[in-house]
Amino acid sequence: MSGRVFAESDAVALLPILEYPDPRLNKVAQPVTQFDAALRSLAADMAETMYAAPGVGLAATQVDRHIRMIVIDVSETKDQLITFINPQIVWAADEKALCEEGCLSVPGIYDEVERPARVRVAAQDVDGRPFERECEGLLAVCIQHEMDHLNGKVFVEYLSALKQDRIRTKLKKRKAREAA
Ligand code: NI
Repeated sequence: MSGRVFAESDAVALLPILEYPDPRLNKVAQPVTQFDAALRSLAADMAETMYAAPGVGLAATQVDRHIRMIVIDVSETKDQLITFINPQIVWAADEKALCEEGCLSVPGIYDEVERPARVRVAAQDVDGRPFERECEGLLAVCIQHEMDHLNGKVFVEYLSALKQDRIRTKLKKRKAREAA
């Protein structure tokens, strides 16, 4: 991602992202009840962290904050940020879609996951205002992937035990190489 000046506000900070298989990724996030300045600040930091990574979605769980908040921007232009707080799937299509997924918490690993092709999500914005959103295509994949994070699930946990084993070995090897 280029052309984006994420240092334009000194108040915004990039947050460290937890990496699989960190057990903190398996915590279940709590509902947000206070829509205050601290929440807005965390939402802004999460958005900057996602854009800088670069990624198309980030759940609070991934930055070790266990509250039900997600930021997503699947646009090409990276100017269509959606913040989903306390999201709930209120409708899901019977039709399924198979899509290759990746995750900022599982760097460099991509694999296919099958999910409902379209979902309708009810959520709140950073000011606590309720809204509903029809999600299809990449947005449908992304919101379901991020909502899994809030429930303590990482996408690779849908894969076979053998594949998960291989992924853990690969990530461990890469970490060792990076540390060397
Ligand atoms: Ni993820």
